[in-house]
Amino acid sequence: MYRTHTCGELRIENKGQKVTLAGWVQKARKLGGMTFIDLRDRYGITQLVVEADAPAELVELATSLGREFVIQVKGEVVERQSKNPKMPTGDIEIRVGSINILNKAATPPFTIEDESDGGEDLRMKYRYLDLRRGPLKRALELRHRVAHEVRNYLDAQGFMEIETPYLIKSTPEGARDFVVPSRMNPGQFYALPQSPQTFKQLLMVAGYDRYFQIVRCFRDEDLRADRQPEFTQIDCEMSFVEQEDVLNTFEGMMRALFKNVLGVEVPNPLPRMSWYDAMDNYGSDKPDIRFGMTIHELTDIAKGKGFGVLDGAAYIGGICVPGAAEYTRKQIDELTDWVKRPQVGAKGLIYIRVGADGSLKSSIDKFYGADDLARIAAAAEAKPGELILIMSGENKRKVQTMLGVLRLELGGRLGYRNPKEFAPLWIVDFPLLEWDDETQRFYAMHHPFTAPKPEHEALFMSDRKEDLEKVCANAYDFVLNGNELGGGSIRIHNADMQKRMFEVLGIGPDEAEYKFGFIINAFRFGAPPHGGLAFGFDRVCALMGGQDSIRDYIAFPKNNQGRDVMIDSPSKIDDIQLEELQIALDLKAE
Ligand code: AMO
Repeated sequence: MYRTHTCGELRIENKGQKVTLAGWVQKARKLGGMTFIDLRDRYGITQLVVEADAPAELVELATSLGREFVIQVKGEVVERQSKNPKMPTGDIEIRVGSINILNKAATPPFTIEDESDGGEDLRMKYRYLDLRRGPLKRALELRHRVAHEVRNYLDAQGFMEIETPYLIKSTPEGARDFVVPSRMNPGQFYALPQSPQTFKQLLMVAGYDRYFQIVRCFRDEDLRADRQPEFTQIDCEMSFVEQEDVLNTFEGMMRALFKNVLGVEVPNPLPRMSWYDAMDNYGSDKPDIRFGMTIHELTDIAKGKGFGVLDGAAYIGGICVPGAAEYTRKQIDELTDWVKRPQVGAKGLIYIRVGADGSLKSSIDKFYGADDLARIAAAAEAKPGELILIMSGENKRKVQTMLGVLRLELGGRLGYRNPKEFAPLWIVDFPLLEWDDETQRFYAMHHPFTAPKPEHEALFMSDRKEDLEKVCANAYDFVLNGNELGGGSIRIHNADMQKRMFEVLGIGPDEAEYKFGFIINAFRFGAPPHGGLAFGFDRVCALMGGQDSIRDYIAFPKNNQGRDVMIDSPSKIDDIQLEELQIALDLKAE
């Protein structure tokens, strides 16, 4: 037997027991003739001690141990002289009788401790060493717990976990596909699923009325902290349901996750906000409602005073920043530069300081008298001590979005975005369609299988752009702390309605048939009303763990260039493989 206990297991109650442990040498140090070794495994760290009067060979062996050597030790559990209350095993140590080196280790390229000295790239290259560290281990443990709770909850609700294929045809989620050439079908390619969307709908047609899957999805898109080219969804679909049923089922699931994994109670029922209110008040379709500082529209009140920037604007809005009336000129300039960065894209910032005594001072005093400023401050619901920050522009949603980004930044700076505080909500009543000026066509805001709200079906038949823009989708997003964790919709289940959707999206009958003929066809054979959603599993885990980045919640993630630097992928394939696939490369110059 390699071990009788793990390195996280022994307590003072085990005093006097003879035990065998196995693990990695975290560090070894000599102190007054004694050698102390921290032995680590997945479960924790146990201190080993080789006494000064131990046999000389044992002392020598103990001194020779390098970091990350894999060893087995036999010894006796004894009470420590100086206890370490920070460690669960901190009351005891093992008085070592023998050491067996199971394997030596090269010196690791970075320290394998909670706070490592290794840079990001180095740790990605040696991910298996990084995974030995506490923070990553805890992240993966959390992920495992969450997956387990998801399965428990959904199983209890009658959901069946069914796998769907990875080698499929292009899916309609709007990102680029990763494609896989087919050797047996030269010149033809599979696409890896961006989601199992079409398959889960086919499962509904097949009668599996409660489906779920914890499933890998693939999207070839630009990467960010909350995006990986391959990521995992908790993908779900139900038949004979309306929006209300879906929301209730899955807020129940999220409540169970927070309670059982973190011991956190989230509101019951969850708040709901329409997409329009989210945009108007938070400048985001994924609002962080842990704090206020909401956007106030000032368009009518601030126009008409001869100040060209505002007079020419189609929309003017502002937020009030608590405690910021006293900001120095330098601080305000810094904020102005911040919003002018291309990532935000604002032209500038107008400010009004609301003094503790209610006095108003602004960057536009030249055009606005005391009364004008007072009216603006009242419309912005500004309180003494606040700084009103105002933006304007031609496109209402763009200005609101910029104010939303500024709001989040300032919320963070002011300490309102505590990662241990959770404020989930549903966003509902999305527009069904989004007009794109550049390509002069509509895109599905969610995806083309999303149904319009029943009361908007007639509007959806209209040929007028203004009407179509008003059609609301039977769609919903689950939002937490400013992040979109999940989204879904009630689907179209009628072949004619689905054809109409493709028509509105400018997807001609041939293209629709070629891409999605299988699903339109399936709808002819008794498709039940159905709907569902998918959560980004990596995001759920990261946010529950208090992090924005999903990378450490994935055992082997890709870097920002979409590369796995550990296995060095993607990589070239050899000529024989290319030949078998009948593929010739025609690479453009670097
Ligand atoms: P959607 O495209 O909104 O919906 O995706 C659902 C959720 O998946 C997560 N997500 C990602 N996570 C990490 N990296 C990515 N690149 C990434 N892209 C998306 C997000 C998102 O909310 N088939 C529909 C769902 C449905 O209608 O049932 C779909 O995939 O958290």
